[in-house]
Amino acid sequence: MKILVTGGAGFIGSNFLNLFVPKFPEHTFINFDKLTYAANLLNLKNIDGSSNYIFKQGDLDDYNQVEKIFRQYQPGLIVHFAAESHVDRSILGPAEFIYTNIIGTFNLLEACRNNWDAKEGKLFHHISTDEVYGSLGETGKFKEETRYDPSSPYSASKAASDHLVRSYFKTYNLPVTITNCSNNYGPYQFPEKLIPLMILKALNNQKLPVYGKGENVRDWLYVEDHCEAIWQVVTRGQKGETYNIGGNCELKNIEVVKMICTILAELQGLAPDYYNKLITFVKDRPGHDLRYAIDSKKITKKLGWNPRETFETGLKKTIKWYLDNSDWLNSVQTGEYKKWMKLNYSAN
Ligand code: NAD
Ligand code: TYD
Repeated sequence: MKILVTGGAGFIGSNFLNLFVPKFPEHTFINFDKLTYAANLLNLKNIDGSSNYIFKQGDLDDYNQVEKIFRQYQPGLIVHFAAESHVDRSILGPAEFIYTNIIGTFNLLEACRNNWDAKEGKLFHHISTDEVYGSLGETGKFKEETRYDPSSPYSASKAASDHLVRSYFKTYNLPVTITNCSNNYGPYQFPEKLIPLMILKALNNQKLPVYGKGENVRDWLYVEDHCEAIWQVVTRGQKGETYNIGGNCELKNIEVVKMICTILAELQGLAPDYYNKLITFVKDRPGHDLRYAIDSKKITKKLGWNPRETFETGLKKTIKWYLDNSDWLNSVQTGEYKKWMKLNYSAN
């Protein structure tokens, strides 16, 4: 099978490729990625050179480039990770989110519609987020049937792309599956998202900016557990269906930040509260969703998937990875990165 993976140089896509390229030599994986600020080819150094792995730089926003990839490789499975993925960036500049997340997904769907004459054995798998459901109160969990109610330009653009994917199933009978997952963490995550940002800032002895009172809750999912769930869906999922994927691990942001401080200190032989003094409460994010939590019963019941990692084991692995990969961490801190930090955090 030829598998077209979009956004495979980003955080989740590169974990997916690092897991499955060596495991399935019978499949060819084509990684199509624009290489935005969030991408890093260093993420893929372990598989670069593998005979079943091909990298193509390209932009989903340009239909001609997408069509060319289809003509050249005739992929039968699309695993669509590529997106602009950071909520804070979508608040400061939503345009890219509309182009990549909506138009980019549309172009990919069109390429499938135009190139897949026989639909047997084909699949378009769309990776989405629980943020399309909006915010939960103190109780309840997101189910696959929960009404869409996105709060940020990011989640609105993902909601639009989910609707497009479903419409291609209903209208054109295009074989599709969708997964909506909770917050991922693990190796290769760009340090603009909460967990790697806090690790990096602590290592640099900088303030750890916690939005509002740190009471917002996220349901943390270890990235490799997420990738295994995606593999189950693309190989055994029902066409036209949506599966929610969660880590079964709800925590307040302040709890997460304190755990990072404790583990980081422990791994470096420092006093347990060494980093806690850096925690700083800053101005809240506008439209900040209070709580996300996923009900994963459907994927567990239908496909037998369960997360393997607990937050303690996953977080420890993650922090160790960042400590052991200081070259990677240095490589992402470009001038652009420094500009972003200044823009987003200087007013706080
Ligand atoms: P990321 O920002 O780390 O990586 C995105 C990748 O997409 C980058 O490699 C980038 O170069 C590529 N890309 C962006 N625009 C492109 C374009 N126009 N054409 C081709 N490639 C392009 O994102 P991630 O965290 O790996 O997220 C992957 C997917 O999972 C996204 O669709 C995101 O919405 C979804 N998701 C992420 C999380 C999370 O916690 N990270 C949670 C739920 C859902
Ligand atoms: P983030 O990693 O940006 O993911 P998302 O917004 O998609 O959930 O943020 C996770 C949580 O952490 C969210 O409630 C916002 C909060 N947060 C902070 O408190 N400080 C920060 O510097 C960042 C980036 C996030």
